[in-house]
Amino acid sequence: MYLCQVSKKGQKQTIKKIGRMKHSFGFRCFKVLKDYMRGSIRPINKKLLRMKVDVLLGLQWGDEGKGKVVDVLTPRYDVVCRFQGGPNAGHTLEFNHQKYILRSIPSGIFQGDKVNIIGNGVVLDPALFKVEVDQLMASGHPLTERLLISKKAHLILPTHRLLDAANEAAKGEGKIGTTGKGIGPAYTDKVSRNGLRVGDLLNNFEAKYKAATDRHKTMLDQMSFEYDLEPIEKEWFEGIECLKQFQFIDSEHFINKKLKEEKGVLCEGAQGTMLDVDFGSYPFVTSSNTICAGACTGLGIAPNSIGIVYGIFKAYCTRVGSGPFPTELFDSIGKELRDKGHEYGAVTGRERRCGWIDLVALRYAIMINGVTELIMMKSDVMDEFETIKACVAYKIDGEETEDFPFDINDGVEPVYVELPGWKTDMTQMQSEDEFPEEFNCYLNFLEEQLDVRIKIVSVGPDRAQTIERYND
Ligand code: GDP
Ligand code: IMO
Ligand code: MG
Repeated sequence: MYLCQVSKKGQKQTIKKIGRMKHSFGFRCFKVLKDYMRGSIRPINKKLLRMKVDVLLGLQWGDEGKGKVVDVLTPRYDVVCRFQGGPNAGHTLEFNHQKYILRSIPSGIFQGDKVNIIGNGVVLDPALFKVEVDQLMASGHPLTERLLISKKAHLILPTHRLLDAANEAAKGEGKIGTTGKGIGPAYTDKVSRNGLRVGDLLNNFEAKYKAATDRHKTMLDQMSFEYDLEPIEKEWFEGIECLKQFQFIDSEHFINKKLKEEKGVLCEGAQGTMLDVDFGSYPFVTSSNTICAGACTGLGIAPNSIGIVYGIFKAYCTRVGSGPFPTELFDSIGKELRDKGHEYGAVTGRERRCGWIDLVALRYAIMINGVTELIMMKSDVMDEFETIKACVAYKIDGEETEDFPFDINDGVEPVYVELPGWKTDMTQMQSEDEFPEEFNCYLNFLEEQLDVRIKIVSVGPDRAQTIERYND
């Protein structure tokens, strides 16, 4: 097999024959293999040269800072895609003293003329989409040429939002604490084969909409849920008109063609691995596959097309909504993390629950996603901490385990190690050469525990407060 070297920008520069894996077992081969595993070198045969798709996703309970880093990485790619979730996401970007919050639109939208795609795995609410579009247009960011939408993306109907509220009300104390955006009901309709897709707007839409809404109304009546559909329906249809300005595409064809043309593609996850419907803290999860495999089904990318998998995590941990959280802090440290980290939901404004970093959950997330590069966010929030704790194992029924269990309810007791804080303002730092010794110690500890290198460290919310490590 021949290998080609691919530049850091994710674009093939020169095809350099740097090794023939069959015959070379020396150091060079080892390095080639290492780089190959990491995804920066991609296999070719002489007829077909395909670029790989890189994926960036959250490893915790969401809000890790995905939006910020996708924006930072975008100049290295040609296409940026969302593959799951919907307006339950709130991705914050800061640059030039401006702050933007994106919900359904990919975070590559601000960097030049890159193509941004809302993939088939996304559920789209036209009303909220219109709000997002209007805000971006008003701030001088035209979108219609640069944002493409999959015909197969499912629509969140006004009645999905009502059903979300009705379901939560019916659960009472056991409610999930959803974002109330109709995510669960929209994905339920998709899987039960009752959903409406963006492509349906092009053909006999009124009848399809009426059939779906009538069905939902019956369900709402059965749940004795009171509602006023008219105002939200009006906004929704205004959203539909806005949506129609955009190009609807067969995004699976579009993306695979881009790969053949050797273009770089970056996929942006929403939520986080602990909210994945299969592997998260079920039932306190969202309704989509937030993990790397979700990029395959949510965009029509073959699994062997995945290259670098960026796993992003906060230097501590947060969660919004209900559900178990083993390292949650209810004391002054939890409050300090929330205050200094401004841990309030970008979508709902809800307080985020805060706690120490959970390495058991992180190792699990790295395994499920096949993470090749780690990105650590918000360490600056702990810049003044005397000491820092990290959960390295769980104690369950008196037994210590490093394996993430079936369920992480009250019986799980975190086992902590304590590390010295760095007590240095790192927010203005530009390179890792400036890192204090204790911070390097924290990084080394995490890399050893997680067995993946930390390639990027973020020391503040701004685009510029991002430090890349390792020169390859
Ligand atoms: P996302 O949903 O994963 O994109 O993350 P959110 O935008 O919901 O939440 C991350 C929050 O942290 C946002 O308010 C960001 O502006 C902010 N943020 C991102 N990186 C950093 C960082 O390194 N330090 C600090 N202090 N804030 C950050
Ligand atoms: P980003 O992309 C944090 C949480 C909700 C709730 C659960 C289910 O910004 O990281 P849903 O509305 O999806 O049915 O809610 O998932 N949740 C998030 N938490 N960040 C998010 O997105 C989230 N999206 C959903 O709080 O607990
Ligand atoms: Mg968020």
